[in-house]
Amino acid sequence: MKAQILPPSFENISLAAESLRQGEIGAMPTETVYGLAGAAFDPKALARIFDVKERPSFDPLILHVPSMDPAIRLHRLEKLRLIDLHQFSDFARSRAELLLSKFWPGPFTLVLPKHEDVPELATGGLPSVGVRMPRHPIAQALISAAGFPLAAPSANRFGKISPTSSQDVLTELGDRISWILDGGSSEIGLESTVVELDPKGKLSFLRPGAISIEALEQAIGDSVSISTSFRQSPGHLENHYAPSKPLFLLPRAIQEIKSFSFLPPFPKGTSVGLLIYSGDPQEKARFLETQVGLSVTQALVLSSSGLLEEAAQSLFSCLRSLDEGSACFLVAEPCPSNQGLGYAIRDRLYRASHKSSSQPV
Ligand code: TXA
Ligand code: MG
Repeated sequence: MKAQILPPSFENISLAAESLRQGEIGAMPTETVYGLAGAAFDPKALARIFDVKERPSFDPLILHVPSMDPAIRLHRLEKLRLIDLHQFSDFARSRAELLLSKFWPGPFTLVLPKHEDVPELATGGLPSVGVRMPRHPIAQALISAAGFPLAAPSANRFGKISPTSSQDVLTELGDRISWILDGGSSEIGLESTVVELDPKGKLSFLRPGAISIEALEQAIGDSVSISTSFRQSPGHLENHYAPSKPLFLLPRAIQEIKSFSFLPPFPKGTSVGLLIYSGDPQEKARFLETQVGLSVTQALVLSSSGLLEEAAQSLFSCLRSLDEGSACFLVAEPCPSNQGLGYAIRDRLYRASHKSSSQPV
């Protein structure tokens, strides 16, 4: 099987929706990354998603819902038999309503207690479920045309780099699925922010994304705790989002480094792929070559002027391109900012990096 990349015409969206109604799966664009979509309540489609991604069954999926009136979102999720809030305090309910009205549609996943009808496979056996309303018009059109929520993990093989174009999905899963709806390059480029709300209204931060901790704290007028299980959050394992080549994350911008002794002793002239955060990649490549005696065969920049949005958008495609290049290993500069999207970029770079790098977020 070789997946077909489909332009997002009305006809193709109807075809894709019909395929989903038959229990099949396919890829759709969202504003974060491309997703591998299947019917959320169909155990056969869910099993197929896990199979195609080679994903362990403990790793829960995010369920994607159609556009809905802000005033009744929580109520609609209950009616759709996705969530069950009978143990929620009034405070927790109003906090959930506030979050959904502020951050939906968009790169925001809210984890809430699940309805008993949500298949175990969708939630990796957890009593909670992650729900998201994407703002991408093609994802929205597909969910509406299908007529039911869609489970959609990122459309990559487990542990690999998330896809931000239909071509990336083709590379990752082209031999395993039959269609990919084309939506061009993903606007944000990093997966959604994931937060969990408990019955008392306490909000825990599980995965950084475009909705920052600062934005969440401002919205609720309270502090947000970074979950103690953040590092262990299912599916948010270290060594995730990983290129197949070893990637060494530098502790600082390249020109500020006096000694590169933390790199393993590669033979002189070993080829290296370089990912810099900002500035001139050729200049930094020459610096690395002179300092360490390695040969930089490819040098890419996330954002020449150092803009966080641009860096996030290009991160996965740059990693993918370096991974497909001829270098033996990769070296990356860190993101200089820990604020907003900077925190999410740092998180993804750290997880993509080789175990010997020491750069926690
Ligand atoms: O932006 C996104 O969220 C993309 C697009 C396609 O929507 N989807 C995505 O799905 O990133 P995936 O499967 O690659 O990541 C899902 C992650 C899980 O690995 C876990 O970290 C978290 O979301 N998650 C989902 N349900 C959860 C739950 N019930 N409890 C805790 N974490 C959950
Ligand atoms: Mg993923």
